[in-house]
Amino acid sequence: MADQQRILTGMRPTGQLHLGHYLGALENWIQMQHEYECFFLIADYQAMGDHLDDIGLIQRSVIEVATDWLAVGLDPEKSAFVIQSYVPEHAELTMYFSMLMPLNQHQKNPTLRAETAQLEAENQNITLGFFNYPISQAADILLPKAHLVPVGEDQVAHIEYTRNVARRFNRLYGEVFPVPRARVGRIPRLVGTDGQAKMSKSLNNAVYLADDPEAVKQRVRRMVSDITGENPRMRATDPGVVEYNPAFLYHDAFNDDQDEVAELKERYTAGTVSDGEVKEKLTDAINRFLEPIRERRAWYEEHPDYVRDVLNAGTERERVIARETIENVRQAMQVVYT
Ligand code: TRP
Repeated sequence: MADQQRILTGMRPTGQLHLGHYLGALENWIQMQHEYECFFLIADYQAMGDHLDDIGLIQRSVIEVATDWLAVGLDPEKSAFVIQSYVPEHAELTMYFSMLMPLNQHQKNPTLRAETAQLEAENQNITLGFFNYPISQAADILLPKAHLVPVGEDQVAHIEYTRNVARRFNRLYGEVFPVPRARVGRIPRLVGTDGQAKMSKSLNNAVYLADDPEAVKQRVRRMVSDITGENPRMRATDPGVVEYNPAFLYHDAFNDDQDEVAELKERYTAGTVSDGEVKEKLTDAINRFLEPIRERRAWYEEHPDYVRDVLNAGTERERVIARETIENVRQAMQVVYT
């Protein structure tokens, strides 16, 4: 146990989780919890950076994210579920790292640039808290001295930045932090139901883990399929294109009957199956996938005290390690006065 490698990863509590979260991150986490000591962070400070005007959403989402995590099979006996702001050492380490990192390097972070440009385009204020979140995320990862960070593709720039922070600290003050690595999942990014590059709540193109069978059916029915060429496929007798076809990307990812998928692809290419049938089979496949998750979710929804206990216990586990790390940091930086 002592030399077991450590993971920290997390999500922002800003809404329900969807199939994109599952493929990009959760699937990987579920596997890795058996091999690593895991800290799964619910990053509420980070959510405040651009959702402080909707603290109710953050409140609900902290519980919902924890419920989703339990429902997909993250095991709180093995892994710690942590509420970020309940371990104020996250803020403390963020402060030290802020002193360390040059502004011009910070401003080069491509993800931060894209996101601030987006907020500006929407005429939203960019708070200092938001601007600082890549540093805060580095502190999240380095506080428990994690070696590995399993994340979706969109987070890789932040892990790169975290590596810079760790290297810089170590160079200036001696080896305190491991330099963590990112690990991206089997399918790093899931297209939205509308064919856009990313599934996301704000684009309204998601299928949620908490969707009931009817909701799944409606979302799949409205989904785009063949998006190549000038004209979308209109008739079952038109030869269709399987590549880049969201319906088939979802079949690949979620259908447990890959023989059925192979057959559908053949018929689609030949023009002997309708989009309607492809989508019906997809609805069934997604519902088969979600059914056990729904069953577990129902239990946790009836036992909110259990979910709260899980969060409090996990948070307490990280707190112990966090105090040690801050002590290491203060010693290394010689922030010791009395
Ligand atoms: N930025 C991540 C997201 O938007 C959430 C997050 C916060 C995170 N701290 C982290 C991810 C530390 C990995 C490691 O989903």
